[in-house]
This record gives sequence, C-alpha cells and structure tokens, in this order.
Amino acid sequence: MTRSWTNPLRDPRDKRLPRIAGPSSLVIFGVTGDLSRKKLMPAIYDLAHRGLLPPGFSLVGFARREWEHQDFGELVHDAVAEHARTPFRESVWNRLAEGIRFVQGTFDDDAAFDRLAETVHELDAERGTGGNTAFYLSIPPWAFPIVTKQLSRSGLADFDENTWRRVVIEKPFGHDLASAQELNSVVNQVFPEESVFRIDHYLGKETVQNILALRFANQLFEPLWNAHYVDHVQITMAEDIGLGGRAAYYDGIGAARDVIQNHLLQLLALTAMEEPVSFEPGALRAEKVKVLGATKAVGPFDETTAAGQYSGGWQGGTKVPGLAQEAGFAKESTTETYAAVTLEVQNRRWAGVPFYLRTGKRLGRRVTEIAVVFKRAPHLPFDSTATEELGENALVIRVQPDEGVTMRFGSKVPGTTMEVRDVTMDFGYGHSFTESSPEAYERLILDVLLGEPSLFPVNEEVELSWKILDPVLQHWAKRGVPEPYPPGSWGPPAADRMLERTGRQWRRP
Ligand code: BG6
Repeated sequence: MTRSWTNPLRDPRDKRLPRIAGPSSLVIFGVTGDLSRKKLMPAIYDLAHRGLLPPGFSLVGFARREWEHQDFGELVHDAVAEHARTPFRESVWNRLAEGIRFVQGTFDDDAAFDRLAETVHELDAERGTGGNTAFYLSIPPWAFPIVTKQLSRSGLADFDENTWRRVVIEKPFGHDLASAQELNSVVNQVFPEESVFRIDHYLGKETVQNILALRFANQLFEPLWNAHYVDHVQITMAEDIGLGGRAAYYDGIGAARDVIQNHLLQLLALTAMEEPVSFEPGALRAEKVKVLGATKAVGPFDETTAAGQYSGGWQGGTKVPGLAQEAGFAKESTTETYAAVTLEVQNRRWAGVPFYLRTGKRLGRRVTEIAVVFKRAPHLPFDSTATEELGENALVIRVQPDEGVTMRFGSKVPGTTMEVRDVTMDFGYGHSFTESSPEAYERLILDVLLGEPSLFPVNEEVELSWKILDPVLQHWAKRGVPEPYPPGSWGPPAADRMLERTGRQWRRP
C-alpha cells in the first residue's frame, strides 16, 4: 500500500507547525520579585528569540517603585542577560524593548489602575496588540482579591467576542481547602474559569509531559501499570538548597504546602490516571480530576507520614545554617522543610498500592523522579544465592536533572555460574534528541497567550489536592518543631521508619 503524502505546511491541523502567539500584551504584577526576574522575563525573551511572539508584543510592569519606562527596561535587560536560556542577541532585545512599559502604583491605588488601563489601550493603538491582554499575578495570595477587583473596576478585565483577557495565578493557591475555595470564588467573580490560568510549572516541564507519551503512546508499559504488577510508587522531589532569603514566603507554609499540594500531586495524577479519550484540554483534566478524587492520605499519620526540619552543619564542604538560624525564620519555627506522605488511589487499578511522596530542602542532591517499583516475580527458579543481589524491577522517570527514563531489571552476571544482579537500561534526552528542552515557563507563557489550557490545573484539581492533604496538615499542626535532620542527608529518621514498617526502603537516587 502506498501512503499519500500531504505537505504538512498546507495542513492547518499539523501540530508540528510552530505555534506562534497572536497579537497580545502581558502585564506582570510583582516585577521586582525573584520569580519574575529569574523565570518570567527570561522566558519572554526566549520566546521572542525563538520567533514565537507576535511582532507588536508588549510587556507592561506594574510596581510601587518610582520608575520610568527605561528603568524597568533595564531590569528586564539585566534579568534576560543573566538568566535567559537562549543567547543574548541585540536585535531580538531591541525589538522586545520597543514594547516595554512601566506603570507605577500600589494595589489600592485606583488612579494607578486607570493609568494601567490607558497604557494597555495606547499599546493596542500603537502596536496592534488586538485588545488581548494577560495579567500575570506574581504576587502573594492576599493581594489576589484586591488586584482582581481593580482589574474589574478599571475595565481591564472586560473583553468581547473579538478579544480576550486572561489572568495567570501563581501558587500558593490557598493554604487549605477552605481558603482555596474562597480564593477561587474571588477570582471567578471577575474572570470566568476559562480565562483563569493557574500555573503549576512542573506541568510545563518536558519530562512531565513525557509521562503521557510514555504511558499512552506505547504498548509496553500500560498492561503492567496496575495493582497486579506494581508494588508501590515513590515520587521524590529533593533539593540541596536551603531557604535563606525565602522566609517571608516559606515560614508557616512548609514543604507539604509548597510542593506536595501542587507539583507532586500533579505528578501522581499523571502517573495514576486513566487514558484520556483525547488530548483535548477537557478530556485530560477530567481524568486528572477523577484520579485526584479517588486519592486519599493513608493513616495512622504518626506512622505513614514524616516531617522534618534541617539543622545546621556541613553540606559538602560548606558550613550551612539550620532553618531556625536562617534570616527571617523564628527560632522556634515549626515549619517543616521535609515532608513525606503515604497516599492511596482508591480505584480498581490501584487499590492497595501505596504512593509515597516526599520532598525536602538541603537533602543529599537535587533530583526529581517518579519510580514505579514492581512486585517480585512470584517464583525464582534459581538457587537462593544466585539472586541475593536482585532487587525489584523498576521504571524510573527522571524528571530532573539528567532527564530521561531508567528501567531496572535482573541480568546474568557473566561467568560460569548463574548469578543474577540488577542492571539498568537508560534513555537520556541528551543522547536521543538534538533539540534542547524549553524552560517550563516558556511553554506555559506561550500557552497562556495562545489560550491553550491543557497544562493548567482547574479549580477542582486545586481543591481536590487540598482535600487530600488537609487531614495530614491538621494532624501535623498539633506537633511542635519537626524532627531535625542534618544537611546533605535524606531526611529525618521518621521517614526511614515510615517505609521500613512496610518492609520497603526509599530509593537513594
Ligand atoms: C517552587 C517551590 O514551586 O519549585 C520552590 O516554591 C522550589 O520551593 C521550586 O525550590 C523548584 O522548582 P524546580 O523547577 O527547580 O524543581
């Protein structure tokens, strides 16, 4: 049979065509913050460099500082020069700089928001932004209500059938179920749900999107992806950095709220969900909502969870302070910097399979991975001495760094006797692809401008995630200072006990 060849350049549905944003502008609140300088501004430049922004694209910063447009332009320039992924090119920068504006004001200043509205209209007239604007709230959650109200009052949230207005919200999205519901309702009073883009930057990572390709583009894994074959799943997000400079955000929040509620539960959802009927946004989110709705924290929490706080000491060759000595943290801070929980997905596919989620600061190394650990073969027709060094089969999705997938299985050790030992088979992005991966924020900002919502959690997902975590957080709220652990270690002893009780062990990635 001969296949007919269609020219992809002529087929508008061809997904390989570069997706370029249409006429639009982006307003950022919180431009002087770390996220904005290290991630958002560099990502915007990288998009411009890759030719994915429209010609009249405009960037407006809103902040308290007494700045002129060029002062803000300098901030963006320096952020880009320092943090962009792609090389700095004068011509790309100059084109981007033409559309940079600054509006000075505070969140309660009506006149400032009126000036912002004028600026957005002027940009539309001068640069053809099409009346389309995204508002990026890179600000603390207490400020969401006041800023969304100002956007509504000043007419900035209004759009008609030919234009769009979207709001982009950064976490933390509430601190428990009740506060998340309240925040959702405040935001939804101004912006309809389809105009709300909640950022979970893990969903912008290539390796995270690859979970879907690995599971649903292959025949190999899915038949084993269930309680008949899987013993347990370990989802780890370990960081070696401490919390110096982040007290204002982190103290009282802690590791579980900071990353388990969002990033790790999203990883769990993608790992455990059923196959979506398509990759339309609604279909994908429906499966995530279903699986999160079936997920529960398993107790008794004194045994099935662990919390810890890093103490001072040596990490590598450097002396580092404990959390309580970091600037801005209370001496008796009860904030956990390590959190581990046991979850169960209560459906037919996963009943009885524990999902262990853990995260921590100042651990042995920076690594994020999902390890699907399989049951042992029901029978081993070897002498017991031949399989002493044989562990469980495992499939490990290496989210970062060293992005890729590892399969672990037993193999005969060369020699005259039968001895079986674990070996690994590796796929590494660096070896298999020449394309480099875009930063998560590049993908997500582009999707906001394109109105492509698949990679953004809906309010229901956020609320379900709090519902899963709230019982553990309430239990932890009764304890004092969490168990200490030394920097450079793999967490508090309670974490090891948590798995040892079940006859399992944490992986040492
Ligand atoms: C953020 C957390 O969401 O993710 C930080 O607030 C954490 O505490 C960061 O350090 C890690 O992101 P990444 O992409 O470096 O894994």
